[in-house]
Amino acid sequence: MKIELKKLVLDRPGGIRAVDGISCVFDSDACSAMAVLGVNGAGKSTLLESIPGLVPIRSGAILVNGLNVEPKNLTAIRRQIGMIFQNSDDQLFSQTVREDVAFGPRNLKLPPDEVRDRVRSALEQMNVSRLAERDVTRLSGGEKRRVALAGVLAMRPAAILLDEPTSMLDPRACRELAEHLNELPTLKIIATHDLTFAKRACPECLILQTGKIIAQGKTAELLDRHDLLLSCGLE
Ligand SMILES: Nc1ncnc2c1ncn2[C@@H]1O[C@H](COP(=O)(O)OP(=O)(O)O)[C@@H](O)[C@H]1O
Ligand SMILES: [Mg+2]
Repeated sequence: MKIELKKLVLDRPGGIRAVDGISCVFDSDACSAMAVLGVNGAGKSTLLESIPGLVPIRSGAILVNGLNVEPKNLTAIRRQIGMIFQNSDDQLFSQTVREDVAFGPRNLKLPPDEVRDRVRSALEQMNVSRLAERDVTRLSGGEKRRVALAGVLAMRPAAILLDEPTSMLDPRACRELAEHLNELPTLKIIATHDLTFAKRACPECLILQTGKIIAQGKTAELLDRHDLLLSCGLE
């Protein structure tokens, strides 16, 4: 899976330039997990949301396995990309955990047996099988996050975009989430300002500041550079 951003410019309502000419490549053959780091307002969410076509492109281009992100390709592109939003409450809406995880595969019009198998394996993978019959609104933050991820995994996407996945998680849940993600061979792009989590889950990272990439490279190396972290407000 390969996602390419070419001189990408994205504006938010009110003319705010959230992403200001970014070029980069996310390629699962080169690096299976890339962190997108930056302080609040740096443009991380806007960047992530633009990949499945949720933010209009002002100029430049996004290519998903060679397909241009534009209206006529969005169905094909969204089939390959799963997104975990910052707030899991925006993502979970069925009555039970099982129903919620089944929603995506059913939407793909898969046969019922296949839906059942995928739901079972996604619940197992995220370690939430015991929650299958629970009400999604009555789960802890960490449980909701894992259920949301199970719902995305059940779609078998080629890439997963995660927006601030550790917000609302306690330290142990953060560590477990990083371990779960490390076991997934799928391409992951993870927006976060949680540097400990980024080090655990992402071998490489890029750092955004006011919509521009100011540094890119190995996470362990970049996050050792205190001058850099200070200058971009990450420490
Ligand atoms: N829905 C929106 N309407 C208007 N401006 C927005 C909206 N979402 C984000 N922005 C603005 O776009 C810029 C980038 O925000 P965002 O992508 O959310 O950054 P991050 O995820 O790094 O905190 C900020 O200046 C923010 O205020
Ligand atoms: Mg954000």
